[in-house]
Amino acid sequence: MTIQGANVTELIEALRTPSADEGTGAVTIGMAVSRVDGRDKVTGQARYAAEYTAEGLLYGVVVSGTIPRGRITAIRADAALAVGGVLEVITHLNRPRIRSFDIFYKDMTAPGGSPFRPLYDDKIAYSGQPVALVVADTFEAARYAARLVEVDYEVEPHATSLAENRERSYTPSRMKAGFTPPPKPKGHADEVWEKATVKIEGEYYSGVEHHNPMEMFASTVIRDADGHLTIYDKTQSSQNSRWYVSHVFGLGKDKVTVRNPYVGGAFGSGLRPQYQLPLAVLAALKLERSVRVVLTRQQMFTFGHRPETLQRVRLAAEADGTLTSIIHEAVAETSRMEDYVEVVVNWSGELYACEHVRLGYHLVDLDHASPMDMRAPGAAHGVYALEVAMDELSYALKMDPLALRLKNYADIDPSRGLPYSTKELRACYQQGAERFGWDKRPLEPGTMREGRELIGWGMATGMWDAMQMFARASAVLHADGSLVVSSAATDIGTGTYTAMSIIAADALGLPLEQVRFQLGDSTLPVAPIEGGSSHVATVGSAVQGVCEKLQRKLFKLAKKLPSSPLAKARFDDIEFSGGALRVSSQPGVAVAITEILAGSGEQRLEEKYLMLPNMLKQMKYQRSTHSAVFCEVRVDPEFGTVRVTRVVSAIAAGRIINAKTARSQIIGGVVWGIGQALHEETLCDHRLGRFMNHSLGEYHVSVNADIHNIDVIFVQEDDRIVSRIGAKGVGEIGLVGVAAAVSNAIYHATGKRVRSTPITPDKLM
Ligand code: MOS
Repeated sequence: MTIQGANVTELIEALRTPSADEGTGAVTIGMAVSRVDGRDKVTGQARYAAEYTAEGLLYGVVVSGTIPRGRITAIRADAALAVGGVLEVITHLNRPRIRSFDIFYKDMTAPGGSPFRPLYDDKIAYSGQPVALVVADTFEAARYAARLVEVDYEVEPHATSLAENRERSYTPSRMKAGFTPPPKPKGHADEVWEKATVKIEGEYYSGVEHHNPMEMFASTVIRDADGHLTIYDKTQSSQNSRWYVSHVFGLGKDKVTVRNPYVGGAFGSGLRPQYQLPLAVLAALKLERSVRVVLTRQQMFTFGHRPETLQRVRLAAEADGTLTSIIHEAVAETSRMEDYVEVVVNWSGELYACEHVRLGYHLVDLDHASPMDMRAPGAAHGVYALEVAMDELSYALKMDPLALRLKNYADIDPSRGLPYSTKELRACYQQGAERFGWDKRPLEPGTMREGRELIGWGMATGMWDAMQMFARASAVLHADGSLVVSSAATDIGTGTYTAMSIIAADALGLPLEQVRFQLGDSTLPVAPIEGGSSHVATVGSAVQGVCEKLQRKLFKLAKKLPSSPLAKARFDDIEFSGGALRVSSQPGVAVAITEILAGSGEQRLEEKYLMLPNMLKQMKYQRSTHSAVFCEVRVDPEFGTVRVTRVVSAIAAGRIINAKTARSQIIGGVVWGIGQALHEETLCDHRLGRFMNHSLGEYHVSVNADIHNIDVIFVQEDDRIVSRIGAKGVGEIGLVGVAAAVSNAIYHATGKRVRSTPITPDKLM
């Protein structure tokens, strides 16, 4: 039910969830808390990478190459250099010679192979590759002059089509560290499938997608008189960018500081340093000045994307729905430079109990930029194919799609036989189905209609990893009771500032306004890249750890106070709330934190903490987040248009730290899933080897008019194996399964099975 666009169920839910007024006051883990950085963001106080400036700042504009493969034979820059205010046109011919740039070029998150190096030599590896940087004292002069740079090429034949090069597919050899190849076959999947009476087979295609965060990729390099570089970079890790600049340019750790206090979305595109960073540094080193380089929206289509993927899924079942065979093979693209690998098919061995499973994953190297992690990399495609195939199987069995999932529910991890750390997927199915009204769904497709629109209901399961890295945090508690906690974490818009502030405020019982969390600076205590939905479980646990150390320190000092009311108390009896240490069993017995500091003559208490995951324990469990997605579509059969009018996403992702921003993450994931299902695709003109719709005008992301009701349910888990705060992480799970649920609903509405995304109107005509 909706009133003026608002979802009433959601409003009731929001009223039920305790919240902190205006994002301040007493907070505990799980409350709905407004972003602590929200005001700065909406008032323009929050500054992004391209908004920092310096005395005498120069502006660099990138000249993009126009051929997909070959060699640069000549660059004519005279006309550009003649433009008033232009200082330099940097190319591979005149860039500074830096030994490390030539021999060692890596970033922490690089896949196996050799990363693309901008302005390295005359080779062209993909269309849109940067070939020159025009530097001027105004942005306008640089931009104008960039158009005057002429480049001659020797063109070589290129290959950019996955379908046409499929026979060249190979098993990835240049492995990304930590990549899990598909597990060995289990049982005899092929024989069982061949002999089965109920079986399906489908080939699924997922097109290229680009990340398209709102904020443009930008690096502002501010050079001090002594040569120190302070770099404001759009990145998912200030420390990754710092490490990269130090290694690639041979600059000591103390010579480079990278900051990213605010990031306007990234979705994986900021996991690796993008080429505007080395270009800005090259210019700053060559000209000994401060330099800013901002890419254009079109150039943001030239450094990585979600790879095009072809998949074949075969499923077989007994007449009662018991899965007997799962065969899932994927072929994805990579570049000629690196083997970008994703976990695409592994999920198919982890989602359902099945005795016979065979999974395969291959790559084809094409003349594109290396693909890149993009929100739920691998699962976005792999689980899509599996979950559409499961839907197809349900019709072959004449069985309800949800009943089929429940029939094959895995109580232990089917791929390795491990118990789950926690798994509330069954509750997700139940609560999601109930909220959606799934029991009223007719089994037959094409049976619901309203006016000219066909209505369909579909569902799918989602799954994502629950990862934890290692991190450090420091905390300083001041005499006035204010607390500053720090870690070189990142907030790409996900709500890190707020989640960490809540954890610290909850641990020490301080009002939220007295807590400040610092992130986005490479000089802060070490934190991992914000990726894989692991930041809360990782950095949050470090914050919890450092606050627990402060708790003990405060307790010790409190006991030593003259005639301390806590003299005889035990630490386990102490509760931290309202800015004080209280004895739980004796109401009214308390000492304020400010009193403790004043009484012991301390101006500040400081602690540091290193959070290392308990890997030996974690290895004994399958650690995942799960979701059940239910969706309603309305299809106009004459125009082939689809509206996703209702989505219920039930999520099990550990303990939720901030009900408000976690919900926002899931809504964002659903919006992405709708985009994947219906709108997003970057199309390549294979004659030119170039992505053609490289603008937000032609690359369609879901907009407000595409989004209707999205209802989020969190089934709480408290997972102390994944993290000491019980959290798993909610960034990516919101997307997984959505495209399949939409596809399945479209089939239910129309009886037409589309096995590729996006499902554009032409596919339904
Ligand atoms: Mo995400 S693709 O782990 O930034």
